[in-house]
Amino acid sequence: MSAFSLTSTDGIAILTLDVPGEPVNTLGRAAIEEFEARLAEIRDDRSVRAVVLISGKADNFIAGADINQFIGVRTAAEGEALSRAGQEVIDRIERFPKPIVVAIHGACVGLGCELSLACAWRVATDSPKTVIGLPEVQIGILPAAGGCQRLPRLIGVSAALDIILAGKTERAAKAQKLGLVDELVPQSILRGVALVAADRLAREGAPARPRGGSLLLDRNPIGRLIVYAQARKTVLKKTGGHYPAPLAALQAVETGLKHGIEAGLRKEARLFGELAVGDVSRNLVRIFFATNALKKDDGVPPGTGTPRPVRRLGVVGAGFMGAGIAGTAASQASVEVRLKDSDLLRVGKGLKAATDILAGQLTRRRITKYEYERKAALLSGTGGWHGFERADIVIEAVFEDLDVKRKVLADLLAQVRPEAVVASNTSTIPIARIAEGAAHPERILGMHFFSPVERMPLLEVIPTDRTSPTAIATAVQFGRRMGKTVIVVRDRPGFWVNRILSPYMNEAGLLLVEGTPIEVIDRTMTRFGFPVGPIALLDEVGIDIGAKASGVMHAAFGERMAPAPGVAKMVAAGRLGRKAGKGFYLYHDGHKTDPDPSAYRLLGVAPLASADAGEVERRLVYIMLNEAALAASEGVVRSPRDGDIGAIFGIGYPAFRGGPLRFIDTLGASRVVQTLEALTAAYGERFSPAPSLVAMAQSAGKYYPE
Ligand code: NAI
Repeated sequence: MSAFSLTSTDGIAILTLDVPGEPVNTLGRAAIEEFEARLAEIRDDRSVRAVVLISGKADNFIAGADINQFIGVRTAAEGEALSRAGQEVIDRIERFPKPIVVAIHGACVGLGCELSLACAWRVATDSPKTVIGLPEVQIGILPAAGGCQRLPRLIGVSAALDIILAGKTERAAKAQKLGLVDELVPQSILRGVALVAADRLAREGAPARPRGGSLLLDRNPIGRLIVYAQARKTVLKKTGGHYPAPLAALQAVETGLKHGIEAGLRKEARLFGELAVGDVSRNLVRIFFATNALKKDDGVPPGTGTPRPVRRLGVVGAGFMGAGIAGTAASQASVEVRLKDSDLLRVGKGLKAATDILAGQLTRRRITKYEYERKAALLSGTGGWHGFERADIVIEAVFEDLDVKRKVLADLLAQVRPEAVVASNTSTIPIARIAEGAAHPERILGMHFFSPVERMPLLEVIPTDRTSPTAIATAVQFGRRMGKTVIVVRDRPGFWVNRILSPYMNEAGLLLVEGTPIEVIDRTMTRFGFPVGPIALLDEVGIDIGAKASGVMHAAFGERMAPAPGVAKMVAAGRLGRKAGKGFYLYHDGHKTDPDPSAYRLLGVAPLASADAGEVERRLVYIMLNEAALAASEGVVRSPRDGDIGAIFGIGYPAFRGGPLRFIDTLGASRVVQTLEALTAAYGERFSPAPSLVAMAQSAGKYYPE
């Protein structure tokens, strides 16, 4: 089956790429070979003067190289050869004797972008679906088919580094401003404009392009040194030195601009080979695949439950979470949302907060004014139950109180349609307890969003033993429409994310009351790779919310989850963290500054002059690994994959480590058990190794036997 079809009109060949049987175009070996064969035909056809390359997919140009090909790479040398081969193809395209115009609609990323950079002219649609860029570093590699060479030459080194080092994709309008796109057009005339451009290029030749970038920084060697130094600093700050790909890409760009494109290409290929077989890239690719697999996973065995369509959402409780859920649903899923609270004042506040999410997107130009108006119009409120009889799904986000939730649920079930799915956003109360005695347990489940809803990528869906597969599939699919990565977890206290987070937070609290300085605790964990340390996280989440959750976990799991002493004192003193402008840290104009010395006084501790960061790391890391092993053995997650994705997306577990369960595999279960035994001897039973880990150590087993 062929991926390209070739037609021609008035001496312009139109090559349409439509990889058979795939939702998007990827450039695997077969597609590339076919592309080259078609180009050879076009070259030899004297009647053809120019070429237009366009996609046959609805909303995709080229999604990149075929990742499967690159994960098959076993040695650095093999990787280097793969990259060299790709570079040669792109070189041949660049040297093609007839002008090639690319007509871009939809994603044009990775190898697709590199290919378009080698073409004579780039026309793109102004659709929000059109994005262009080089996301390679996100899977731990670098653009290695000339992207690190051609992009800086086209748009200037600073703009290019901005894209390459962060693995960014740009909307078409921005890409045009940068010089990455030559013409921006409505989708309806894409093909026509590309044909006109091809004809013009055939007659007049390629226009002289101004060199990209600014004279001061991009086009003189001293200015470039400043740009490189700044870029390196930014990368190190963002990655903590844990991700080698952006620094490698920087080297490839630098080499190419200093020693010429051929030297740059060779550097690109060599670095690609090294990165491709490295642990970081392997882990990032696994996460990429896991996330993609979850996009196709309805959370129930295939054929057992068909997701019901959701057109209208009801949200009960217009507080912090309810408003976040409402705004995100309108924004991402474009469903009608009815937001309810007990009085209209709160409803109004909630609607305002939900609309602010859309307004934020408008300010950041993620949506147009028209989209803003359209989405904002989806939001409405009520103090009663008006409109709930039409909802396909209702999410409850009232106070974290069992009796209140039961009462709301009973009232709710009396209002909604017989097929509506009813979800609770509780963070700690078992769903089965909320559903106890309810009229329709088969339609009840948990949908645990994280705060802030619009930014946190994870959703835990929690069925009870009685939830129907249809309800599960409906909730999972709707969560995905809201833009979330969804994992289905068991109805145990804390579900998955808060379960593994809780002992970690408690341990941080214990370290604190032992006198470990706040900055040592937090810095140790950010160095390990978390985006924020545990004490800063507690301030973010709200110390009262953290205290409440740890109380529930303590009651459920006993002594090993005893809350750290002192946290209650913070709550009693009204030091609730960022929202109160006062917590473990000081806040100035809403910005976190330094640890607050008065917090130590309140807790009655004197911070130690020196602390053993290695021991701090061991305690915090291993207590979470152990809890992850315990919870996994209880079947809280369906698979190690779900557990690792949940930890990475739910609490920012360092992605380059692949997640806690993958990290146990990396360390080896026996080493984990030994360390836990040593910690048990030093600090007590809460470190006692999970029986499943002990068994795994004995059998030399792994979470991912591959
Ligand atoms: P919140 O206090 O900001 O909002 C709760 C809202 O529910 C208030 O506006 C209140 O007026 C309303 N409400 C209470 N009883 C009601 C009733 N009978 N009928 C209608 N509305 C009623 O609380 P927040 O933080 O939004 O939490 C809501 C739920 O989300 C809780 O179950 C909480 O555990 C959960 N959650 C909270 C997270 C957080 O970080 N704040 C994270 C994940 C879940």
